[in-house]
Amino acid sequence: MSESAKVEISRGLENVYIKATSLTFIDGEKGILRYRGYDINELAKNAHYEEVIHLMLYGELPNREQLSRVKDTLNSSYEVPEDVLRVMEVLPKDSEPVALMEAGLAALATHEKGFKWKEGDREKALEIIGKVSTITANVYRVKEGLAPKIPKPSDSYAKSFLEATFNKSFSGTETSMMDNFLVLYADHEVPASTTAALVTASTLSDMYSCMVSAITALKGPLHGGAMEAAFAQFREIGDPSRVDEWFERNIVKGGNRLMGFGHRVYRTYDPRGKVFKSMAETVSKGEARKYLEIAERLEKLGVRYFEAKKIYPNTDFYAGIVMYGLGFPDYMFTPLFALSRTLGWLAHVVEYVDEQHRLIRPRALYVGPGERKFVPLDQRK
Ligand SMILES: CC(C)(COP(=O)(O)OP(=O)(O)OC[C@H]1O[C@@H](n2cnc3c(N)ncnc32)[C@H](O)[C@@H]1OP(=O)(O)O)[C@@H](O)C(=O)NCCC(=O)NCCS
Repeated sequence: MSESAKVEISRGLENVYIKATSLTFIDGEKGILRYRGYDINELAKNAHYEEVIHLMLYGELPNREQLSRVKDTLNSSYEVPEDVLRVMEVLPKDSEPVALMEAGLAALATHEKGFKWKEGDREKALEIIGKVSTITANVYRVKEGLAPKIPKPSDSYAKSFLEATFNKSFSGTETSMMDNFLVLYADHEVPASTTAALVTASTLSDMYSCMVSAITALKGPLHGGAMEAAFAQFREIGDPSRVDEWFERNIVKGGNRLMGFGHRVYRTYDPRGKVFKSMAETVSKGEARKYLEIAERLEKLGVRYFEAKKIYPNTDFYAGIVMYGLGFPDYMFTPLFALSRTLGWLAHVVEYVDEQHRLIRPRALYVGPGERKFVPLDQRK
């Protein structure tokens, strides 16, 4: 029997399980998402990002003492070597923002000496989460031609990040919007970026390299780029009165994908999308309110049109409106996703290496020509 007769290729690794996890549970049919058993809606309402960090890395929600230890480690990790920020500054101003983030993380990797898995890797993860805040804030600052800034220690990771990015104070409501965003995007089982991080971790490479792998995979429009792409649609439409005509032309007749809709796992509303929608309702003023009205009309048309295929709004559909409402330009949406998801990437690689490590090395089925005789260059036609 030929090899091809025995092998079934799983395109897109759909429904292939590459690890066991105690981190994130998704029920795609019912639209349920839980971190270590806690429903995402409850966490978004009640927990701060630092508590979710402890939950994901150490297995439980922290008590007061554990929480203050997490905050202390984050606060003491914001500093990065000066050359890391200089690297980001000297790169072309029109670099893709996520590429700037990759460069910042790769530069941090050059300072990483003698990293060993299973020896303080959760503490290393905390340190990286701290430094990613600095890198992300400075993606914005570099793009805007502003001087670099290191987040100041505070009681809130979200607040330190916002204030370093924009060099101004934020209200409690705004800080908690940022905090909610960080909680909602923190993990989502093993999408392409987390899988890329796992492949790198499986070779026992260092954690910063896992981060670089994850971010490069996140960048594409089918994954992390979808928040920006969804928002670009709202901008292109420009006014709620133009939604129906746009939808007919681009989606019904044009056959294009509606960005911010559809998901490999969810066959119903993404629960995070619902939280973002209600957040968008509170944050939206002025332009953001207009984009919200456009999105709401688009949602109605999309849900009706795609009903048979079970394609619904995902988390990226409304999240961009919330971040825009907080003052972020569209180009920051994917870096913000990466900032939050750093926790999930690192929690998954630690879980994998510590508890179930094996080198990830799949196979490819050869379907090219059989054995052929080599033809010297001057005899080839
Ligand atoms: C996320 C995504 C890649 C997952 O899709 P998937 O599981 O790989 O499913 P497929 O791409 O195979 O699509 C299955 C069918 O649904 C359709 N479909 C899926 N998402 C669609 C969308 N957003 N708009 C229009 N059609 C869509 C496909 O065209 C395909 O139709 P067909 O069977 O008639 O050819 C897809 O839904 C998508 O491209 N969404 C837009 C980008 C996005 O928002 N990404 C963020 C994800 S969190």
